[in-house]
Amino acid sequence: MSSTITVRVPAKVNVQLAVGGRRADGFHGLASVFFAVGLYDEVTVTPADRLTVSVAGPDAAAVPADRSNLAARAAVLLGARYGITPQVHLHIDKGIPVAGGMAGGSADAAAALVGCDALWGTGADPAVLAELAAELGSDVPFGLLGGVALGEGRGEVLSPVPTGGSFHWVFAVADGGLSTPAVYGECDRLRDLDGGSADTDLPVPAADPVLLEALRTGDATALGAALSNDLQPAALSLRPALAATLRAGADAGAIGTLVSGSGPTCAFLAKDAASAAALATTLTASGTCRTALPAAGPVPGATVLD
Ligand code: C5P
Repeated sequence: MSSTITVRVPAKVNVQLAVGGRRADGFHGLASVFFAVGLYDEVTVTPADRLTVSVAGPDAAAVPADRSNLAARAAVLLGARYGITPQVHLHIDKGIPVAGGMAGGSADAAAALVGCDALWGTGADPAVLAELAAELGSDVPFGLLGGVALGEGRGEVLSPVPTGGSFHWVFAVADGGLSTPAVYGECDRLRDLDGGSADTDLPVPAADPVLLEALRTGDATALGAALSNDLQPAALSLRPALAATLRAGADAGAIGTLVSGSGPTCAFLAKDAASAAALATTLTASGTCRTALPAAGPVPGATVLD
């Protein structure tokens, strides 16, 4: 058994995020098509006297480096399941935008589950890891799985979605994050204003067959046309400047544009790797985002590095 384990875990973009009514538990019913992209965090797990956390990367100061970090909570939860005191140091090297709508915190929790399982030799069944992941957060099970998957329930009930080939993305990273609960709350407020009700009058969300077919056949143009995010109006309402970012990407030739999850990161689909590189350069120079990063996918979920 190795004394240090490093786990690499990807960010996600929701190529479809259909948000249904608010449930009695406060969560929203979803049909969420998660897509794992090659922007990564790395979580290194090392034996220690007690549970400690450190964070590196450009946005490290915005991430809690204590037991409130979701990765630390993951180590505690896995330890409790197997009767192990979580005496580990978790070092998180962040490449995923923080509070950016790309599930970076959830990714770190998934990586901590996988890393502690490997370090402790618990050999947890994937179903047990998925159950613990769902307890930690709606997006954590997808961090374990990766690829492309439909998330139902509050996003934690996953079924893999077949895809044909790679898709090329650019992610425009904003200055500062958005709070996921605040964006869901704004979505409810806008729906109530609209004369409906955020709790009732809403259809049960379902995956879009046109989008699933575009993924299956690897048709980037069709995927670009089918992208949708019910949280986008709420993210734009809370951060109106994102409209200029989306417009800059569309003007620069993106074949699909949307806010990633609850935002504020904006996602742009390109037709190939060269177009994505050029689009990233144009967006970075546009002054409508802090930086723009190209990334391809789908990629696997949390993986132990050699
Ligand atoms: O599951 P997670 O802790 O990541 O969710 C963060 C917040 O996002 C929840 O507290 C809730 O406000 C909102 N949310 C929701 N419906 C979902 C997922 C998240 O309302 N399906």
